[in-house]
Amino acid sequence: MKVIEIHTPSQDSVITCGAGCFKRLAPRFLAGHRNFVLTDSNVHALYGQDIKAVFGDAPVYILPAGEESKNEVSLFRILQAMIDAGLHRNSFLFAVGGGVVGDIGGLAAALYMRGIHCVQVPTTLLAQVDSSVGGKTAVDMGKVKNVVGAFYQPEAVLVDGTFLKTLPAREIRCGLGEIVKYGALNAKILDSLTENADRLFDLAYLAEITPECIEHKAEVVRLDERERGLRKSLNMGHTTAHAFELFYGGLSHGEFVLIGMYYELKIALAEGATTAEYAALLEGLILRVLGEVPRYEGVERAAEYARLDKKNAASDEVSMIVPADYGTYAELRLPFEKYRGYLVSLAEK
Ligand code: NAD
Ligand code: GLY
Repeated sequence: MKVIEIHTPSQDSVITCGAGCFKRLAPRFLAGHRNFVLTDSNVHALYGQDIKAVFGDAPVYILPAGEESKNEVSLFRILQAMIDAGLHRNSFLFAVGGGVVGDIGGLAAALYMRGIHCVQVPTTLLAQVDSSVGGKTAVDMGKVKNVVGAFYQPEAVLVDGTFLKTLPAREIRCGLGEIVKYGALNAKILDSLTENADRLFDLAYLAEITPECIEHKAEVVRLDERERGLRKSLNMGHTTAHAFELFYGGLSHGEFVLIGMYYELKIALAEGATTAEYAALLEGLILRVLGEVPRYEGVERAAEYARLDKKNAASDEVSMIVPADYGTYAELRLPFEKYRGYLVSLAEK
């Protein structure tokens, strides 16, 4: 088992990585409290018996699986169920699922009685390497992604790779999207990804690389929990990813991160922010995971959603975190029309 800690002024968060850690460690948080389990319909169908075995009679709220559930209506239903369950300040909410369950569950834990204990049990690769760690919680509202949320560190995160055995290959690809992002931020991770390019989808390799990615994120969160500066780096590729995700839909967050990285890498190259050699290396990795970049029509309208990105300092500019060279990145700020022009010309190729 590997243990990684994040100490912030608000909360200490202990992340444990290792096969079997869910069943071994989750019971330690149960004694003497009313507890509440949030999961989704797919995870419950696969792991309902394990959930019952670990949590006994604690109420289990089952969200319909999918990003469509990550909204304010679901959030208030969950809060009502928490009131009905008689949870109190010492209660624990266990979010057992992917990033959707983790994000909305973390926000419900932050809001209920102004904050109860939260344990994240991520069951997708994406949630294990990224979303369960670092305390970003949110729901989408209207067409705007993650627009209502809070920073709220989970007390514990149990990263148990055995959940990945039931994860479809496509969901593994989504998690690899975030892992490739870490590679573009961290030279050691990039070395590992290039050396193991033939094993990227192997669960044994993913068990090795996952703690490396979490350690990278933990260090960033330790230094900049509230995303005043450094933490923006974790949003590499996300400006275009979120815009396409909202406008086109149809793919998952991790797939859009890869597509966003692909477009923003090309923009970085055109702007002279990265070198052709480095861009070619990252493009190779992106395409190895993604297969091919879908052809999109109407990108001039999709670009509008990039205007809403939280990184932008002004409404007429678009901010992107782009790879610069091995292990380094840069923030690229472009006038909105220039950004839109790049997207249009890249989509036409
Ligand atoms: P998800 O939660 O929708 O899970 C993907 C699919 O896998 C779902 O159908 C789910 O039911 C299923 N699933 C989950 N565990 C499974 C298992 N072990 N076996 C089989 N199926 C399983 O999506 P996700 O990709 O995990 O997360 C995406 C969300 O995470 C987005 O809403 C995104 O905005 C958010 N996110 C948040 C952060 C953060 O820092 N908070 C970071 C990245 C992404
Ligand atoms: N996934 C981006 C962050 O946690 O900051």
